[in-house]
Parts: sequence; C-alpha cells; structure tokens
Amino acid sequence: MIECRCIHAMALAQSSASDVCIEPIRFQPLGPDVFGKTQPQCLLAAIDEAVEPLVGLTNQHVVSIQSFSASTLLQLFRLAAKYESNPDRYIRHNTPLTGKILINAFYEPSTRTRLSFDSAWHRLGGDSINITDRSTTGIAKGESLEDVAHMFNNYGDCVVLRDSNPEAVVAMSSTLRIPIINAGNGIDEHPTQAMADLYTILKWRPSLAAPNVAESDRIRIGIIGIPSRMRTVRSLLRILAKFPRMVNEVVVIHAPGIEEEDTLFDPGQQEELLEAGLSLRCSTDLRSELPELDVVYINAIAWVGDSYEVHGGGFRLTRDLPFKPEAIVLHPLARGPELSTCLDDTTHNWYFSQARGAVFLRMALLTCMVDRADRVMDVV
Ligand code: CP
Repeated sequence: MIECRCIHAMALAQSSASDVCIEPIRFQPLGPDVFGKTQPQCLLAAIDEAVEPLVGLTNQHVVSIQSFSASTLLQLFRLAAKYESNPDRYIRHNTPLTGKILINAFYEPSTRTRLSFDSAWHRLGGDSINITDRSTTGIAKGESLEDVAHMFNNYGDCVVLRDSNPEAVVAMSSTLRIPIINAGNGIDEHPTQAMADLYTILKWRPSLAAPNVAESDRIRIGIIGIPSRMRTVRSLLRILAKFPRMVNEVVVIHAPGIEEEDTLFDPGQQEELLEAGLSLRCSTDLRSELPELDVVYINAIAWVGDSYEVHGGGFRLTRDLPFKPEAIVLHPLARGPELSTCLDDTTHNWYFSQARGAVFLRMALLTCMVDRADRVMDVV
C-alpha cells in the first residue's frame, strides 16, 4: 500500500512538471489582404480568357521577355490570377504536371527564383531535379553546354537555368528538345521576374488590363536602378514597353555622375524602348519625383560573374519619404539597406506580395510550356 501511494505521488509530480512550459511563439496564419484572394479575383474578372496565346507557348524557350506579346502576357497573368484565386482547386484536386520532371539548374545564388520554380512545379504535381553547382556535372570535365543539354532531353520535361554566362541559355537551347527558361543570365535578362513584377502591378490595379486605359488613369513608374547593369531592370523596362497604354511615364532614377548615354543604358537600349512607345525620362532627385509616382521599383544589386555590384548607395526608401498615399513599392529582393524594414507594415509594401505572386505566375508559365494548358482552362 505504501509503495502504491509513492508511485501515485511520483506520477502526479511528473504530470504537473510536464504541464509546465514557456509560452509558445504564435503566428497569424492570415497575412494582410495583399496576400489574399480579392486582388487576383479582380484581375481574373478583368481579362477575358483566350486559348490561342497560351497553347502557343508549347515548344518554345523563354530566353528574353521580348518573345512575348502583350496578349500572351495578359493570358499568363489571367491564369496566374486563377491559380492564386483558388489554389486548392489545382494544388489538391487537379495536378496538371503529374508525371513531369523539372530540371532546376542554378549556378548563382538564389532564394526566390529557384525555390519558387520548384514550389510551383511541385504544387502542380510534378517532380524535380535540382543542380546548384555546375562543377558536379560534366561541365567540370570540359563537357559542352550543348552536350549537357542533349542529356537533359532524356531526364526531364523542362529546364530552368540561372547562369552568370549570358550565352549559356542560348547555347543550351540550340540542342534542347524540351523548353528552357532563363532564370537570370548574367546582367542580361530575368524575364520571369519582369512577368511577376507586372503581374503584381495588375493585381494592385486590375483596371490597367483593359484594352483602353484613359490617359488620366495611366500610371507613373519610378525605377531606381541601372538599366545597363541590372537584368531585372532591363527585363522590366522591356515588358513595360509592351504596354504603353498602361504607363504615363517611366522615370529611371539614378545617382548623379552616371552619364545617361554612356553607362546608364547600353548602346541602343534606350532607343529600343522609345521606339516601342515607352515614355522614358531620367532623374537624380528621388525626393522630388516621389510625390508623383504610383509605383516605386528599387533594386541595388547586379550579379556579375562570381560576385555582385551594389549601385545607388545614396538611395534608401523609408516610410517618412513623400510617397503618394496609394503608391506601392516593388523590389525583386534580396533586400539591402536601400529598402528599410520600416516599410514592411505599411500599405506601400507590395514587395512581399510580388514574391508570393511569382509562384502563381511561374505555375501558369510552366503549365503552358509543357503543354498542359488544356487541363486548367475553362474555354478548351
Ligand atoms: N528576384 C530574384 O531573382 O531573387 P533570387 O536572386 O533570390 O532568385
């Protein structure tokens, strides 16, 4: 009996000890509405579905944003908005990439692009192979990119490549019989980032997707960056030039001392944009431009070779600057000191929504490129 009481007391002591714990760190599962379904649903309603532009994406590579028409881009944004409006429908109940394999080859650092492509593919039911170091492939033994691409034909259904060599994506595309997507080729282009950027702008203001936008409703975009050195900025300018009906003016904002014609733009770059109908101006005075800007895009990093350059060290966006009340801030990220965290909990913060939306945008692009658009379109 005595022994029995002892055991009972010990059990009680153990039970009360195990009930003592420090307060857990909790989180809010729902973010602000820029992460929600309202804006993608509005964009979805603003664009009529069309089959042809998306079906036409089968059997083509994505090297430059230049190979995309405005109508194809709008349909991609519509499909991305459809995914983002109702992700469960496709992620749990309709997995159009089942049985398909993605080869995700990233030879430069990446948080967002590599993981969002991988996430997009997996969310649609596919499997993936990831390579993050070219020296683990035959390239280290002198194998040509063309021959590596020949092999990739046997292993997967789509390739995503980030390589600091601008020519690598072109070399591989010459022998690939599966599509390749340029996920950043040196300082040249980052086409899917530009798609994600414009997708964000259209979610913020779906009325811009209309065929005719009144002049008073067009937006003014400030881009703090160097068009000749930053692939994100180069591709963004090119995609904006396809939609002059949305844009009142683009202002490239840069540090004093950079000559517009010599170093800010590559030879012919500015002319190409002007010929496409983009209204383009340069400025060095961020503070005086801000009160008129609807969208403020900032980037400071250019990846060159094996390291990176930082530009525009004098610019820093903080919440006390004279933003328009409804203005949004975009940044391709990774963030540096140019984008203060004090903006994170303001309504100007659309950069996190931009990164989130890139997953849905990439889901839309990948679906079409591997010929599975018919599984997710209503009008087929
Ligand atoms: N936006 C972007 O390209 O980010 P990562 O370098 O992390 O992929």
